Parts: sequence; structure tokens; C-alpha cells
Amino acid sequence: MCGIVGYVGSKKIGSRLIEGLKRLEYRGYDSSGIAAISEKQLQFTKKVGRVKVLEQSTPKAYENATTGICHTRWATHGAVSEANAHPHMSSDGHFALVHNGVIENYTQIKSFLTTKGYTFASETDSETLVNLIAYHYDKEPEVKDGSRFLESVRKSLLHVEGTFGIAVISELYPDELVCARRGSPLIIGVGKEEHLIASDVNAITHCTQNVVYLNDNEIVHLNKDDFSISTISNVSVDAVIQTVDWDTSEAELGSFKHFMEKEIFEQPNALENGMRGRFSDDGSTAFFGGLNLSPQELQQVDRLVFIACGTAWHACLIAEYLIERYARIPVEVEYASEFRYRNAPLDKNTLIIAISQSGETIDTLSALKEAKRKGYKTLSINNSVGSSIARECDGGIYQHAGPEIGVASTKAFTSQVMLCSMLALYFGRSRNLSYADGCEIVRALKQLPELTKKTLETTEQVQKIAKKYAHYEDCLFLGRQMMFPIALEGALKLKEISYIHAEGYPAAEMKHGPIALISEQCPSVFLTMNGEMFQKTLANIKEIKARKGAVICIAPEKCDLPKDAVDDLIQIPDAHDILLPILMSIPVQLLSYYIALERGCDVDKPRNLAKSVTVE
Ligand code: G6P
Repeated sequence: MCGIVGYVGSKKIGSRLIEGLKRLEYRGYDSSGIAAISEKQLQFTKKVGRVKVLEQSTPKAYENATTGICHTRWATHGAVSEANAHPHMSSDGHFALVHNGVIENYTQIKSFLTTKGYTFASETDSETLVNLIAYHYDKEPEVKDGSRFLESVRKSLLHVEGTFGIAVISELYPDELVCARRGSPLIIGVGKEEHLIASDVNAITHCTQNVVYLNDNEIVHLNKDDFSISTISNVSVDAVIQTVDWDTSEAELGSFKHFMEKEIFEQPNALENGMRGRFSDDGSTAFFGGLNLSPQELQQVDRLVFIACGTAWHACLIAEYLIERYARIPVEVEYASEFRYRNAPLDKNTLIIAISQSGETIDTLSALKEAKRKGYKTLSINNSVGSSIARECDGGIYQHAGPEIGVASTKAFTSQVMLCSMLALYFGRSRNLSYADGCEIVRALKQLPELTKKTLETTEQVQKIAKKYAHYEDCLFLGRQMMFPIALEGALKLKEISYIHAEGYPAAEMKHGPIALISEQCPSVFLTMNGEMFQKTLANIKEIKARKGAVICIAPEKCDLPKDAVDDLIQIPDAHDILLPILMSIPVQLLSYYIALERGCDVDKPRNLAKSVTVE
């Protein structure tokens, strides 16, 4: 989704800003732009399409500039066009602004400014804000010069309803940058004789590892040597400088063709990193340093509500099966966007757990804030240290899966599922789960990285199967119990990156509607487990075959499928049930990846999608 990078320093913006913008490309966008103070004048360039088009069109003169801002836009208000792309200029030409978020009262602001003679070149809500800044600047000549720029931004923000991460430059103050946030992330990069700002830490780490995460309703005034933070209501704030702990090379492709491919193959490591140091010495349970739950609070929890969006929501569904099975605590799973506006009755011993890879998804963040407002204890599982969700929660578990760049989530998903299994073990052992059962689960989990590596050996076979099925336009994914969320995830992955219509269903539900779709034109992917559900799933497979539907089956090696029961069989290693959702996910991810490649799709940047959705 929209990305911001800004720079003020003693170096030239050229490589720093565009490189930062490239590092935000993975988030999804449709146009981009840059503004710089070049030859004492505010200049800008905007382009529809990829950042490399912007890079090629940016005048060489910008390279000498030392103050600038740039942006990738994902359209919300107004079509995808150069006029609507950011930065936006005030109609007096003095200010340029980039904005993430939504200004909810922009029509009122726009009407007011129109009566004052300001004009608008775009359909966006953001352009009203830059003109409001120009208006306040003109209105208050009495403010002493050093802070007049800052104060005009502050005054404007006091009138804004909605969410924003903004960065503003002015030709009247060529060596300064003002930025602010409310509900949309913003981070300061602190370098030597330079400061950067960005909406995502990935856009900064090529210049510095020292960062300050801004909180909601904070505004910052920066020059090359210094910066000061205050609240929008003008209370000064002490900056806490933190060090980013990941290696920037983790965010680079290396020998892989796509980030999605790289991240699928990183799963053994990501899983190992997520479990490291989190098992008890006696090998019977898991523990997590950051939960901040006393043993008494742990005992009192009598209900868990998981909230999330997209792929992370599927991880929550698996948590529901696992926690209910191993810890006997009732679990509910809610779409964060629904939970937020539903006045769900909860009791005081309900614990809210948000799952989010980015830690910035606005629906999840808002749902979490709503839960906190009502007094519930909140935890999160997330992959981004210092993210808004991580900071909002009472406690949490970091995934340590490393940066995920591909829009379609892979390693972050399996890492979330693994941490949910460990959470089920942790809650289970604090209640009825026996020492022996705990030890068995810990032993199984410790084998997971190795079994994941082994499952990745199906790659070549999956690639061949992908070739065979890439031309279909519809596909069903079916599974029972813990395989049902994997069916949902499989369908989501396939539609996200290959644009094939796909649906996930509990296998038995197929008879209540989706069976009408079955024909030679609609294959089904069955996710099959051993055990009491096996014969029932086999019956569902036969129902599909009887209607000429092709069946791809993913099953553990020991699954006793009759010969010729399915068209294509992908075997994964036999393993403890608790590992199967993760192992089953691997061929499912590979299948979508290779089908998308066969169809010539842009796997890492699928159309219309954003990696991190920061607007409602
Ligand atoms: C977007 C992404 C999905 C992701 C979802 C939730 O829709 O495209 O891949 O699952 O957001 O993101 P989060 O960062 O909260 O896990």
C-alpha cells in the first residue's frame, strides 16, 4: 500500500530516495512521485506505473538536491493518474506533501479552502491537506520564522479527521522536513549529517540501522543535524532511538527469481528461528518472553478471541482447532474489520490475540484498540519489531521469520501457525495437557524445520502438476478439520497471484453447493489427513471423480489412498498431526507459485493487492 520516503541531509537525494522507494515496491502501488528542492525551487515529477519509470523520468538536476520526499500511491480517492499521484503541491507552489491514510473530512476542508481562493489539481483528499498547510502559513505571519513551517503543519492537523502519515517540504525552508503520524506508520532514520523518514523500516536500512518509531499524534521537525518530536497538541516528546536488528541482505533476492520463491524456501529457517529458545528445559512445554501474563492471569483466561485479516486470519482458524483440542479453552476467530464494529459481548476473562505479519494492518490495529478501550488484555503474534500492533498490545510474540517481501504471505503464515501450535501447548500445559503429551508435542515441533526441508523436495513434482493445471479458470480446495483453513489459504494464494477463481471449503460442505461447479473444467485440490476423517474424505473425492472433476491430492506418505483414486498425488512426510497444517501448506504455496508463473503473472506484485493494508 502507499509508501513514503523523505530525506534531509548533506548527501544528494538521488540514490537515497529512489532506492528507498524501490524497497517499498513490494507493498503494492499503482503510481509514484518525487518532489525535491532543486536550485532553490520546489520541483516534482509523477508517473503512473513502476518506480523505474519514475526513476527514468526524474530530471538529473534532482540528483544534487539534499531535501526531498517521494511516494508510492495505491489509489483510494480518485483514479490512477499522474494528477492524483503524490507529492501534492499547495496551489501557491510553496509546499509539497506526501500522505498515507485517509482525510475523512476533506470535502469540508476543500469547500472552505475554495472560498479562500485555493485551487485543486487532483481528486485526492491529500491535496486538501497541503493547501490547508499553505493557508495556515499565510494566516499566521506573527509566528517567529524558525517554527512557522512546523506550526502551520501542526495547526492544520488539528483540523483533520481521519488517518495520516505525512511528510512535508517547503521551498521557503529548503533544509527542513516536517512529518507527522496518526494511524499510519512513520519511522525516522537517524544517520550522520542526515535524517530519513519512511513508512516502512525497509526503506531506511540501506542508509542507517538507527531508527525512531513515531507514535500516533506526534509531529517531527527535522534538519540534517537535529530533529525534535512533539505531540500535535504541542507537548514535547523524548525520542527513543532503536537499532533495527535485521540484516538488509535478507530483503534482497539473491539467487531466487522472486521473493515469493525465496520466502517459500526460507521456511525451514524461519520456523527454526521462531521456536529458538522457546521450549522449557525439561522439554515438556513452550514459553514466550514477551507475553506479560502472570500465572494467575493465565489461569483466569476462559476464552480467547483471535482477530486478523487475510492470510493471518487463516492462521487464527488453525489456532482455534489446536487450542480447543490441546488446552480446552473456547476460541473464537473474527475478521478484525467485523470485530471492530460488532459490539460482541465478551467477559472480563477474555483474552484478545491479534495476528499480523506487518503489524500495521489498519483493521487489525483498530480492532485491537477497540478491545483495549473496552478493558481487555491484548496480545499479538507479529513479524515486525516495533510495529504499531506490537506497541499497542499488552504483550506478544515476535515471529522472527525475517522480512517478508512477496505480497502473497508464505513464511509468515507457516511461522504464525507454528507459534499458534506452541501457544496451544503453552496453554494446554498450564491446564490439563499431561507432561508426556507435552513432551511428545515438543519432540514433534523440534522436527519441523527438517520435515519442512523434506517437504520442499516435492518442488519438481509440483512444478509439473502446475503446468498441467495452469489453464483452468476455476479451482476448489477441500479439506476437513485443520485442513479446512489450509483449503481457504490455498484458494486465497491461487487467486491472489494467478487470478484463477478459487474457493476453499470444508470437504463435506462441498455437497451443499460447490458440487454444482464440478465438471471437467473445474479441478479440486484435496488436503487429506490420516485418521478418523480419512475414509470420509475419500468418499468426497469419489463424489468429485463421479462428476468428471480432476482431483489433485496432497497427503502424508502413509495415507492409504486406493490406486487411481486421484489424478495427481503429492506426498508429504508422515508427521505428528500438529505439524500437518504447516507441511501441507508447502505444496499448496508451490502450486500457486508455479501456476502463476505458467500464466505469466507478476508473482511478487499481483494486480490491485497491497502487502500491508493501511486504509480501512
Ligand atoms: C494484505 C496482504 C495479505 C495479508 C493481509 C493481512 O491483504 O496482501 O497477504 O495476509 O494483508 O496482513 P498482516 O500484515 O496483518 O498479516
